[in-house]
Amino acid sequence: MAAPALTESWTLGDIEIPNRVTLAPLAGIGNWVVRLQAKRYGAGYAVSEMVSSFAIHYRNEKTLRDLLTFKPEERDGGPVAIQLFGQDPEVMKSAAAYVAEHVAVDVIDLNMGCPVPKVCKTGAGAAMLKDPDTAVAVAKAAKEGSGLPVTVKLRSSTTKDGEHDGYALAARLVDEAGVDAIGFHPRSAQVHHKGTPDYALAAKLVDELPVPVVLSGGLHDAEQTLAAYEQVRPAAVMIARGGLGNPWLLSTLLGRREDVAPTADEVAAEFDWLLDRTAEHLGTERAGRYLRKHYPWYVERLAGLGYPDASATPDKQLQAALQQSDEIEIARERLRAAVAATVAV
Ligand SMILES: Cc1cc2nc3c(=O)[nH]c(=O)nc-3n(C[C@H](O)[C@H](O)[C@H](O)COP(=O)(O)O)c2cc1C
Repeated sequence: MAAPALTESWTLGDIEIPNRVTLAPLAGIGNWVVRLQAKRYGAGYAVSEMVSSFAIHYRNEKTLRDLLTFKPEERDGGPVAIQLFGQDPEVMKSAAAYVAEHVAVDVIDLNMGCPVPKVCKTGAGAAMLKDPDTAVAVAKAAKEGSGLPVTVKLRSSTTKDGEHDGYALAARLVDEAGVDAIGFHPRSAQVHHKGTPDYALAAKLVDELPVPVVLSGGLHDAEQTLAAYEQVRPAAVMIARGGLGNPWLLSTLLGRREDVAPTADEVAAEFDWLLDRTAEHLGTERAGRYLRKHYPWYVERLAGLGYPDASATPDKQLQAALQQSDEIEIARERLRAAVAATVAV
């Protein structure tokens, strides 16, 4: 029997999610602008960038202002989740309670997969795989504090040759903490984001767990994503690096668009939208600095469209020009000029 179409709905806790294409949590990227972009292109569910439970507990002003802004229109096309991290159950309970009271989100997702040393050395992120009792306590605390459905996103293991400690933890989180779904990234924390994910292991988890499993890892284009979805049969797929500056992938997966590259005009229009909404979020000055991270992804979309020499590689000149633009209006002009110079291929 074929897997359900990606356009079919599924249920997380008592929440209906209208389709099976979701936006993965992306630190430093998945703010309301990027989540709303994913929703505009059809994602049925989006998870925020990770937010420190300690920063919320201690009411860190910048965290509350920048990371806890969720827009009502984000929820138009389906629910949204906030991802929290932290290894202290009491702090998690307090942060989860704050979120449930003050932030318009439907689900709390917990990060137990981040391999970055700064996070792991505090015992949070992927370090939680080695401390399953604390991981269970943190998940229980998030549920108690918020009363919302709680999900956990984790890795399959700590080390690439080790036991599948993340896989084993997933079952404990469901049994003992009542976690409502698992986001599974079947790579070890040790390899960070490299290598082929272990989809066979993910398929086994899908069979074993009584709750939905959402698949993450290696879903970089439509073909790869559909093949992994068929093999693993998760409740949904999570698009991460494949969707950076490429929301068209989401529409393609949902059958709303042919699997063709966006035109230069489409890229330029999306770039304009991103600039405007980011300026609304951060103010023009901060947006100018912050958006440098996003520019390469849009330049990459233009590459191969005929600009400027039908080169198949991202254009270095435009890239450099955008990186030197400290104002978004200059970046906008430079991208427009590049698009105007596009030669139809
Ligand atoms: C820049 C970047 C930031 C990320 N931030 C987070 C995060 O905040 N929380 C999380 O659970 N995973 C995070 N991830 C992991 C992704 O959600 C995803 O699991 C991973 O990229 C594998 O999927 P992919 O191979 O399709 O990119 C991040 C990945 C990248 C590349």
